[in-house]
Amino acid sequence: MSSSNNVIFQVQPGGSLNGEIRVPGDKSMSHRSIMLGSIAEGVTHVRGFLNAEDAMSTLEAFRAMGVEIEGPVNGEVTIHGVGKHGLKAPTKPLYLGNSGTSMRLLSGLLAGQPFDCTLTGDKSLESRPMKRVTAPLAQMGAVIETRENGTAPLHIKGQAGKLQGMHYDMPIASAQVKSCLLLAGMYAEGETSVTEPAPTRDHTERMLNGFGYPVTRKGSTAKINNQGKLTATEIDVPSDISSAAFFLVGASIAPDSDVTLKHVGINPTRTGVIDILRLMGANIEVLNPREVGGEPVADLRVRSAQLKGIDIPEELVPLAIDEFPVLFVAAACAEGQTVLTGAEELRVKESDRIQVMADGLQILGVDAQATKDGMIVRGGGNIGGGEVDSHGDHRIAMSFSIAGLRSSAPITIKDCANVNTSFKEFPSLATQLGLKLSTL
Ligand code: S3P
Repeated sequence: MSSSNNVIFQVQPGGSLNGEIRVPGDKSMSHRSIMLGSIAEGVTHVRGFLNAEDAMSTLEAFRAMGVEIEGPVNGEVTIHGVGKHGLKAPTKPLYLGNSGTSMRLLSGLLAGQPFDCTLTGDKSLESRPMKRVTAPLAQMGAVIETRENGTAPLHIKGQAGKLQGMHYDMPIASAQVKSCLLLAGMYAEGETSVTEPAPTRDHTERMLNGFGYPVTRKGSTAKINNQGKLTATEIDVPSDISSAAFFLVGASIAPDSDVTLKHVGINPTRTGVIDILRLMGANIEVLNPREVGGEPVADLRVRSAQLKGIDIPEELVPLAIDEFPVLFVAAACAEGQTVLTGAEELRVKESDRIQVMADGLQILGVDAQATKDGMIVRGGGNIGGGEVDSHGDHRIAMSFSIAGLRSSAPITIKDCANVNTSFKEFPSLATQLGLKLSTL
């Protein structure tokens, strides 16, 4: 259960990471494969699907809207697409657990349907900002009720045939907002275009094109209209670079490490973590680069390196947005100071990742100061042991586990059940590589 807080990770200090693994499928692409496969015509086969709670929330939502979906079995999913206008009204609210991507993308996809529905989630999801999607959707004619402060539950009154395309200049660099509006644009009169203030992940655009639905891109603007249709296809989901990131950092900071991560998605809108770690002096090789189903993929070999502190270039922030918890651990192990700015978005992720990481690092004796839009970490000192709280945030739980590779005493991490939202194999793969992790 993602809401339970009774899973505790305990890490014994030290060790190194060695070996070759394949981490599970990309979460962003797994969500999108279900969404687009469901509204495609024909049968879509997905391989490498992420069998974890967040992607399953999306899968179950489409089952509840009448789509027959087989699997996942060994990462394989078969979706019997119902076509763009074939979804059925769900008989109860769609519960989306911890998954912001499910809620924000579905709000766009469902705004123009011929039925009403309600989107709910767990405590974390129901406290995250949804106005960023409901406000622009309202400008297109969508009718979505939220709580007074703009949070979920979202009550969507389907406006089939009534949405109007528009141009939207996004105030924040958010792939979820961009994707939400493009999906709504598939059901809107005229053209819908979205301009992003900085590049964000483009899996929605790539996958729409893979299904034969035209999305055009000019500079920082993506455009769509309601004239296209989706034709079922084969999707091969690569490993999630956001899950690989724990081992990119772990093998960098732990002495005598040498890890190869197989078949990782290296879409340039996702590789900020590699760029940042390399600026810090990491030894990461990109091997055997290839293209699989419209997405670049490679094997990543990472070996121990003495990292140094840097000022993280702000343009890399959206390209590494989910990797900062573990990058703060890298910063704690680096010589000198690392400064992150321009990352206020981290405050509204599954937890306030600036505060929660600063608090935990301080408990472990690291000089980490939260700022309004980032953090200052003075590295090079020792990481101590202690008890930290992940606040139910999967990436915080895994990041503090990785810190154990360089701590001088055991680290206990509370509230780790939500690791299952993205990476339930983390404890077994991490211990296979050499992390001394046990689950209590
Ligand atoms: C995601 C986009 C990002 C990211 C999230 C997944 C997506 O959020 O943090 O984990 O799949 O589109 P924002 O686009 O809101 O930054």
